[in-house]
Amino acid sequence: MGKHEVETIKKRHKGNMEDYEEARNSFDWSNVEKEFDWHRTGKINIAFESIDRHVESGRKDKIAMYWEGQDENSEKYTFQDMKYLSNKFGNILRKYGAKKGDRIFGYMSRVPALYSSVLGCIKIGGIFGPLFGGFRSGAIKDRLWDSGARILITQPHLKGAVDEVRKDLPDLEKVIVVGASKDEVGEGEVSYESEMAQASEKLELEWVDRETPHLLHYTSGTTGKPKGIVHVHNAMIGQYQTTKWVLDTKENDTYWCTADPGWVTGTSYGIFGPWLNGVTQVIYAGRFGAEKWYEIIQRYKVTIWYTAPTALRLIMAAGGDVVKKYDLSSLRHVCSVGEPLNPEVIRWGLKVYGQPIHDNWWMTETGQQLIANYPSMPIRLGSMGRPFPGIQATILDDNGEEERLNAIGNLVIKLGWPAIMRDVWRGKWKDHAEEKYKEYFKFPGWFLTGDSAYKDEDNYFWYQGRLDDVIKTAGERVGPFEVESCLVEHPAVAVAGVIGKPDPMRGAIIKAFVQLGEGHAPSEELKKELMNHVKKHLAAHAYPREIEFKDKLPVTRSGKIMRRVLKAWELGLPTGDLSTMED
Ligand code: WT7
Repeated sequence: MGKHEVETIKKRHKGNMEDYEEARNSFDWSNVEKEFDWHRTGKINIAFESIDRHVESGRKDKIAMYWEGQDENSEKYTFQDMKYLSNKFGNILRKYGAKKGDRIFGYMSRVPALYSSVLGCIKIGGIFGPLFGGFRSGAIKDRLWDSGARILITQPHLKGAVDEVRKDLPDLEKVIVVGASKDEVGEGEVSYESEMAQASEKLELEWVDRETPHLLHYTSGTTGKPKGIVHVHNAMIGQYQTTKWVLDTKENDTYWCTADPGWVTGTSYGIFGPWLNGVTQVIYAGRFGAEKWYEIIQRYKVTIWYTAPTALRLIMAAGGDVVKKYDLSSLRHVCSVGEPLNPEVIRWGLKVYGQPIHDNWWMTETGQQLIANYPSMPIRLGSMGRPFPGIQATILDDNGEEERLNAIGNLVIKLGWPAIMRDVWRGKWKDHAEEKYKEYFKFPGWFLTGDSAYKDEDNYFWYQGRLDDVIKTAGERVGPFEVESCLVEHPAVAVAGVIGKPDPMRGAIIKAFVQLGEGHAPSEELKKELMNHVKKHLAAHAYPREIEFKDKLPVTRSGKIMRRVLKAWELGLPTGDLSTMED
């Protein structure tokens, strides 16, 4: 690929990072540490730095969180409120025997209690595992089982899924239910509200060293079960500085991250990054809708908005008239992450919001943004931007040799940034975890992302796709194996193979190829039934929107489904070498 013409949007305004080149030349992560007190003692706690620190330094009465639910019910919390609520929750956890290193999971919607739970857990040195509220029994069972979670916080409308699998979870001692009174909870359960009413606001924090784990984010790969990505308190250095320079937060901003804390964007930049900077956040817990989202921006005078391409495309599809009904003039910076952001959306953003949309790139495993478009740098439409100061990214071929400029290859990042995952959780699937962990470090000195990309003459990076079978649907990461396993649990299914099918709105949709067992015949009803089966047992976002029945699916002699053949079928491409097929 030669040098190409690119459409550019000039830099808009001076951001917190005034000059990219200069920042890159002089940057050193060790200087960021000096913005915090702990660098003197060496002992830290990311929850303290996110909340309590501000209570002690003049932001006590500043709003930390404007919260709004589905029915316009709203609440607000100052940094001091968040301090006391998380202290109380830390005390409850201790009362039930939780201690440093314990895995404490949250399976709930974005209610205020979720935020007190995350922070309270981390304050006592616990490791918080967020489970997306869209998950169902199969998905939560795997994650709770592998991690050996001792305590789970959930809500009445989700508890049914937990009850289904609780007998298979020997490590799970207590379930704390938010929104149920003492009389409404069963055996082995506690009421969040009645415990909170009694808990002390004073908590003795657990001071830890920076390499102590605080977060366990399960995510999917190509094969096998999900992997527990382990993050440590030290991630705060990366999250703090990227929030400042990529999201460009300032003291008086009102920031809205639309991601759920079940996904890493919702923790790194929906909890820690902004609060480490003492910034006011809006949390909207209700359903998506173009009008609803605009209402939120208007009502709270959101200045910085961090969202995802599929949401923007859906809003765009709602039409230009919708936007005219709302006053969105508060917006001054818009960012996007998670999947490719098409130039069309950026052009449209510029037209309707008067703001270009700033794409940035990172992963669950990287813990923080690594490649981004900054306010003070020209945007090249379609590019993810340039590496953050202190970050080196490049493209390697499959032998680990550096690729030429503009040539497509493996996107890799030089090791050594603050928030990189420290491990894949060595739980019940120890061997699997070890193998998975090693896959990221195939090229010595580099982190292998699994993405393909190229870089241009000026070090802008251009995303091309995933190199493995990971599916990105509406920005959410789905492992084909989990969907296939769920499908074959249905009595009618003999073999199932799952791929992402390109989709203009959602990036990709999940498509399943299904070989039925003897005595079962294809029908539209059966398709519906299989779709519902996945919604009910795995997750609503992971169900196959398209199912195709096949007499025979391509499997290798060792019984593995050949997804590349399915992809070729789907795209009408040659199927290539089938010599390892069964017969
Ligand atoms: C994968 C990681 C942490 C952010 C949320 C996603 C894809 C991420 C971009 C982007 C094109 C992107 C990659 C990556 N991705 N950002 N700006 N343009 N693709 O985290 O769920 O762990 O997914 O998302 O393929 O590997 P995740």
